[in-house]
Amino acid sequence: MIEGRIKAPLTHSPGVGMTSRQMRKPLKGVTAVSLETPTDLSPAAVAAVSETLRQLLADVFALYVKTKSFHWHMSGPHFHDYHLLLDKQATEIFAMTDPIAKRSRKIGGTTLHSIGDIAQHQRLLDNNEQFTTARSMLEELSADSRCLTKLMRTAHGVCDEFNDVATASLLEIWIDEAERRTWFLHETLHGWN
Ligand SMILES: [Fe+2]
Repeated sequence: MIEGRIKAPLTHSPGVGMTSRQMRKPLKGVTAVSLETPTDLSPAAVAAVSETLRQLLADVFALYVKTKSFHWHMSGPHFHDYHLLLDKQATEIFAMTDPIAKRSRKIGGTTLHSIGDIAQHQRLLDNNEQFTTARSMLEELSADSRCLTKLMRTAHGVCDEFNDVATASLLEIWIDEAERRTWFLHETLHGWN
């Protein structure tokens, strides 16, 4: 064991029993700074696009967690294939999160701050069931994927309205990726038809 590299037991912590929020001391002399970023887009455009991206980011995080959860809780004769398929899809979905958040910041908007913020903004529903069959998992993800595609098309429309071509361009890539995920899920489900 390496001395000095072990965290002190929590019972010796003066903040034991307190939440991290309660333990966080207010910083004296620090005032809020503006998070605006210079942009030629109008304030209305920034507000509309960043709100659209905030909702999209919440949906993408929700779908990521659901896909991972199904990857973890998969069962049945095709376990290995489905387990790997969902891991691949989860990785692709997670890869969208950072660019979505940064796109909002690049134009001077803000984005999600917490799990609570995700819960407040997500439109795709969670699945909290203790057991879901493999078929139901694939059907649910296929429906979510089609729903996400639709939501991204709507988001593209908001970008078009304000001539935010960069966000629109990213959305075009993500729509294509979502359609590929839908295709793979749909074809995998064919075995049951
Ligand atoms: Fe895994």
